Amino acid sequence: MELKELTRLAVSAREMAYAPYSNYRVGAALLAEDGTVYLGCNIENAAFSPTVCAERVALFKAVSEGKRRFTAIAVAGGGDRVSLTTPCGVCRQALSEFCEPDMKVALAEDGEGAYTETTLGALLPGAFGVAFMGGV
Ligand code: THU
Repeated sequence: MELKELTRLAVSAREMAYAPYSNYRVGAALLAEDGTVYLGCNIENAAFSPTVCAERVALFKAVSEGKRRFTAIAVAGGGDRVSLTTPCGVCRQALSEFCEPDMKVALAEDGEGAYTETTLGALLPGAFGVAFMGGV
């Protein structure tokens, strides 16, 4: 699947965002290696800390359905309109558990499918991973 199409899916996933506290709505579309796309949106909470980001919702949906290999993720966030949004540090770390540093990350620039392309490794250099835990 083209990154532009994945980005458009992230824009559509943003429609489902539950963000009454920040009014910052985010959608994510995660492409599994087998071609399946998992969508996620941010889900906020009155107690604030239970809030989850769109990226982790998509990732955990996928992993909970048996997918552990991914080729790309698109993220679309913003207030009234889609504007460039990068995954938070927690989401970068969560993704790094299952995704290679060269996994493509598309960051939506608008609601039409324009995007900036980067990689997980560029967003999270030196990620802590199981390799550091020799012997576990
Ligand atoms: N958020 C995401 O869902 N993903 C990001 O990449 C950045 C932040 C959410 C969390 C919170 O609901 C709102 O955006 C404002 O931080």
